[in-house]
Amino acid sequence: MRAVVYERYGGTEMLELRNVPTPVAGPGEVLVEVVATSINLSDWENLHGSPAYARIGGLRRPRHQVLGSDIAGRVVALGPGTRRFTVGDEVFGDTLSTGSGGFAEFVVVPETALAAKPARLSFAEASAIPQAGAIAERAVALAEPGSRMLLNGAGGGSGSLAIQLAVAKGVAVTAVDNAGKLDYLRELGARRVIDYRREDFTRTGPYDVIVDLVARRSIFAYRRALAKHGRCVMVGGTARTLVRMLTAGPLLGAVTGTHLGVLFVHQGPAHFATIAEKCASGEITVRIDRVFGLDEVPAALTWHGEGRALGKVVVAVRSH
Ligand SMILES: NC(=O)c1ccc[n+]([C@@H]2O[C@H](COP(=O)([O-])OP(=O)(O)OC[C@H]3O[C@@H](n4cnc5c(N)ncnc54)[C@H](OP(=O)(O)O)[C@@H]3O)[C@@H](O)[C@H]2O)c1
Repeated sequence: MRAVVYERYGGTEMLELRNVPTPVAGPGEVLVEVVATSINLSDWENLHGSPAYARIGGLRRPRHQVLGSDIAGRVVALGPGTRRFTVGDEVFGDTLSTGSGGFAEFVVVPETALAAKPARLSFAEASAIPQAGAIAERAVALAEPGSRMLLNGAGGGSGSLAIQLAVAKGVAVTAVDNAGKLDYLRELGARRVIDYRREDFTRTGPYDVIVDLVARRSIFAYRRALAKHGRCVMVGGTARTLVRMLTAGPLLGAVTGTHLGVLFVHQGPAHFATIAEKCASGEITVRIDRVFGLDEVPAALTWHGEGRALGKVVVAVRSH
């Protein structure tokens, strides 16, 4: 099969489209013919091996050589002991924990990581949901109706879904991202938008909930922007901020009557199937910015990394 492989951390020049053996489904796994894979910031981080946590399991060289963890496709073979799917089923899911990526014609996935693709979603749309949808669901669960929520890095995959979920719940959303995305954020329902290159969101507020998808500020700066009993969580960002949030965050929170910490996102259909149904029913829009081919994965990652995408960037591995 054809797959986009990398053997060393670095830029997109590390990626090479090659012929590699088609994997075989083991016990509890199914072989999926990939139709579409969406790009997440985690693909960029795992390619570069940065932040440091992207090297967990592969300090010097990547442990898994094919990126693209959000996939949608068709089941083509069943491993021993599988029960949930049959050959031909249309499925989607997040393979981040298994390490097998969808920048390839086929991928082996534990059946427990997959859900049946709603018929009303295209493969491209379905591939855009698992990781971003699970993050958005968990983030918005922190906010009560009527509360004030700030999302930093709001114009990406997770933020775009989180804004819509939060607004539907009656939460007043302030969305932070680069200037080119501010109109898009308003369209999604954000009440206030902030260009991170021009304004420091930690000097606005106060907010009941802050969710930072690209955290890099000090815990004191986050604390400054929180309301009494407010809650601030980082989902992704620098390793330094992660360490501070895990160590000093709880202490500062205890002293100031707030909560500062890390939001760990669970994987699996239980965490993205509901939001996928909302996308299928039209309650929430999953917007595809641009679609690239399998031979264009470096360009797709660059397009995403350059920050111009309004919505998800998708790699179409086959035409249907
Ligand atoms: N905690 C967990 O369990 C878990 C699990 C999976 C993933 N993650 C993490 O969750 C995050 C998910 O992000 P995503 O997939 O939604 O990413 P994404 O699609 O890349 O979106 C990130 C957005 O943040 C913007 N941004 C970059 N730097 C910024 C800054 N300094 N201030 C404000 N905005 C900035 C980007 O715009 P620009 O174009 O300007 O760069 C982009 O619009 C990633 O960090 C990932 O590593 C966490």
